[in-house]
Amino acid sequence: MERLVDGFGRAITSLRISVTDRCNLRCTYCMPEHGATFLPRTELLSYEEIERLVGVAAAVGVSEVRLTGGEPLVRRDLPELVRRLARLPVEDLSLTTNGVLLERHLPALVAAGLRRVNVSLDAVQAHRFAQITRRDELPAVMAALRACEDHPQLRPIKVNAVAQRGVTDDEVLGLAELARRRPYIVRFIEFMPLDADAAWSPADVLTGDEIRDRIDARWPLVELPAPAASTSRRFAFADGAGEVGFINPVSQPFCRTCDRIRLTADGQLRTCLFSTREHDLRAVMRDGGDDATLLEALRAAVGQKELKHRINEPGFVPASRSMHQIGG
Ligand code: GTP
Ligand code: 5AD
Ligand code: SF4
Repeated sequence: MERLVDGFGRAITSLRISVTDRCNLRCTYCMPEHGATFLPRTELLSYEEIERLVGVAAAVGVSEVRLTGGEPLVRRDLPELVRRLARLPVEDLSLTTNGVLLERHLPALVAAGLRRVNVSLDAVQAHRFAQITRRDELPAVMAALRACEDHPQLRPIKVNAVAQRGVTDDEVLGLAELARRRPYIVRFIEFMPLDADAAWSPADVLTGDEIRDRIDARWPLVELPAPAASTSRRFAFADGAGEVGFINPVSQPFCRTCDRIRLTADGQLRTCLFSTREHDLRAVMRDGGDDATLLEALRAAVGQKELKHRINEPGFVPASRSMHQIGG
């Protein structure tokens, strides 16, 4: 079948699915401290609906599926969804999680066929972790990472660290040290304007290059090759002690090679992290549309995928939802 290609000739091979907008942390760059509103249960796609949609997408070349949230593990019986998706012809089935509930669910997730996990961890100092996430869960996250090491099926283990100037400056070397000490690839992500509080400003962006220079001054780095569509630049420690990465969507946008689309927990397709409009695939399914109709809706949406984000341009219009509703 003809592959999914957008209006700029980019083939879409990666689908990121948010399974819930709820979360057990309250990271300042993502959620408000109080008063977040959440989707009612009936609005959420069921696991059957998600499975159906992934089946349709896999048939036209989507080979990577990543489950996100909110925090995906707060949704009941996530391993059941993993089991359903692992049966489909998808090469890479992965999870982005904050890690708080991960240790508990890891055996079931691995048994269900999960291939990879990316754990979000912005700080290795407990007080900084608590300041950013507004919760005291650092030990649970570290324990979950350790537990991942016991499952050789789950490789590589990646840690995602959002970097914020004035907040995580003194975490850079500690996180790099984690990448040297443990078998984790630690990736620093530039802070993007997706926060619920709309407090982002360009001055808050601690750029990947600045972080790289700081690490390189302490432990020299050498760049590794990365796939063209990769979000991150990869660097090995010159002494062979591990790997770090830099996801630089603000200072070095990678939209030209974007291969991603996103599905919200309520079944709205977003063709860009920064989309201001969505495509209602849930309605197509709940109105009784068959798979051909669903595929047609998917193709039509992809055909309208945005060229790029406009974070750095005057008149930037923020995304129509904040990060906990999109999934990252
Ligand atoms: P791997 O497949 O493991 O490399 O993961 P990934 O980089 O696709 O996914 P992950 O969930 O680990 O993404 C890390 C972060 O990179 C996300 O949370 C976003 O902050 C950022 N990111 C990922 N994809 C995009 C994208 O398409 N556009 C932008 N602007 N940022 C993205
Ligand atoms: N800017 C950059 N990354 C973000 N994430 C959440 N909010 C932002 C933001 N405003 C990251 C999380 C997690 C992933 C799901 O998205 O830290 O790693
Ligand atoms: Fe793709 Fe939009 Fe991210 Fe650019 S900002 S890489 S177009 S999702």
